[in-house]
Amino acid sequence: MSKIIVTAALPYAYSIPHLGNTIGSFLPADVYYKYLRMNGDDAIYICGSDQHGTPIELDALKKGIEPERLADDMHEEIKRLFDKFEFTFTKYGKTHTKENKETVYEIFNALYKNNFIKEVKSIQPYCNIDKRFITERFIEGTCPYCGGHARGDQCNDCNKLLTAQELINPVCVICGKSDISFIEEKNLAFELDKFELELSAFINRESPNNWTKNAINKSLSFINEGLHPRDITRMMKWGFPVPLKGYEDYVFYVWFDALISYIGITKEWDSKRWKDYWLDKNVRLVQFMGKDNLEFHTTMWPAILMGSKIGFVLPKTIRASEFLTSKGVKFSKSEGVGLNIKTALEIADADYWRFVLMYIYPETADSEFSIEGFEEIVNKIMNDKIGNLINRILIIATKNTNIIREVDSKLYREEIERLEAEYVLRFESIELREALRVAIELAELGNNIMSKHQPWVLVKDAANNPDSDSAKEFSKIIKTELLLIYKLAILLYPFTPNTSMKILLYFGIDKEPTLDALNVDSNSIKLSENIKPELIFSKLRKEQIEALERLK
Ligand code: 2FM
Ligand code: ZN
Repeated sequence: MSKIIVTAALPYAYSIPHLGNTIGSFLPADVYYKYLRMNGDDAIYICGSDQHGTPIELDALKKGIEPERLADDMHEEIKRLFDKFEFTFTKYGKTHTKENKETVYEIFNALYKNNFIKEVKSIQPYCNIDKRFITERFIEGTCPYCGGHARGDQCNDCNKLLTAQELINPVCVICGKSDISFIEEKNLAFELDKFELELSAFINRESPNNWTKNAINKSLSFINEGLHPRDITRMMKWGFPVPLKGYEDYVFYVWFDALISYIGITKEWDSKRWKDYWLDKNVRLVQFMGKDNLEFHTTMWPAILMGSKIGFVLPKTIRASEFLTSKGVKFSKSEGVGLNIKTALEIADADYWRFVLMYIYPETADSEFSIEGFEEIVNKIMNDKIGNLINRILIIATKNTNIIREVDSKLYREEIERLEAEYVLRFESIELREALRVAIELAELGNNIMSKHQPWVLVKDAANNPDSDSAKEFSKIIKTELLLIYKLAILLYPFTPNTSMKILLYFGIDKEPTLDALNVDSNSIKLSENIKPELIFSKLRKEQIEALERLK
């Protein structure tokens, strides 16, 4: 039994997470965590809403409400939707809590005391009307390169990275005016550059622990390009105030407290037990994220932990997904449009999305979501290969209980056990998409057994002749198949938990399965009496496809 902290990169609390975020972090982390629980590991799964940052402050300003209210409302909504998605976090918390604030202050004070914080100065745009610095998204103008529409940090049209000073006709997004001066702003920076050696030793030491290739390559290249001090403060109101004289008008930069909230949220979960995980050197910290979150997680985050010298565990495994792209359907983050988890759940139940998304999980390369692909996976794999198999076996078994006898069936045992072993290996190396492929192979084996032995033919003879070879053969095949679908339900559990529990209920099991429960033979599992087999999965209906088409 190992002790493990699983984390998923926090979604911003300004919009409902779309499918791209979901596949990048919360879903694979949840699948992995469910596996660890089945394996009997002492694991916790931590995530929460990332509530600070300029977009939320800006949005609250526009709506005329407090940022905290906006961020809390969105947090509740995301939490509700995540529940429906069957994510079983140990704690789905949030960043704006007293526990996180306490942790941020403890770490900041330690970094300050250890001389890793310094004051830096830079020229920043300042709105004379709003009397505030307006960086990044708060300032817009014309791109000097392409003439397109640009923000303070990047052009929306040509994507070139910019500084606000380069913008032609800069306008303040808050007041809409262009009374802007460029003046010197001070900030506190974390001296990331002091950690180059320690970080490269860390990456070389830990990356053999199943880091994704992109995580290894990118983090090494960040270091090779040279690390620089990074601002950890912002002159704005929404966030945790910086507890240092001269910084009364400042809060911590959103990423600083978001990273630390992995610890803060664990404290929010349990004010004592958090220490058993974060302060125990034997704990494995396994972190899931999209590849765009790599820089913060493989440089800033471990360096902050190291620099605090408090003894927090460092990441052991970094799993960064590639991107899920979609030419057809919009994944837009804004205003709840496009395929976010809310619209997704209105179209199909969570298990459909969980299965399809894990089937196309961009684990090693970008992958593409399309309506046709979605339909094909649901209809041909979930419905035909898995759902129909389970349904046919349950029907033939329940109709013929009087014929099925105690036989010692070792048929296909080797094949089935080989697949179980491969499934475990895939999960141990955190190859989640491959683990799902193995479960599907088990269903394929079940289908091949059906077509090869044709129990519906055997049963006719067996019914007339209970002592015949056909009767014996029939019992053997059905017992093998019942065992197979029972095992299939267990293997599918991390991916489609609801459906798996439905299947297991046919066998009288109503508790979350364990891997140990795979160690049974065909005589030790029994179908419950009087069950009525229902369809496990169904094909996509016309209305569902139309609803997806409308998102184009
Ligand atoms: O990119 C994002 O969506 C960030 N909210 C991720 C934060 S992860 C961690 F720092 F908490
Ligand atoms: Zn302004």
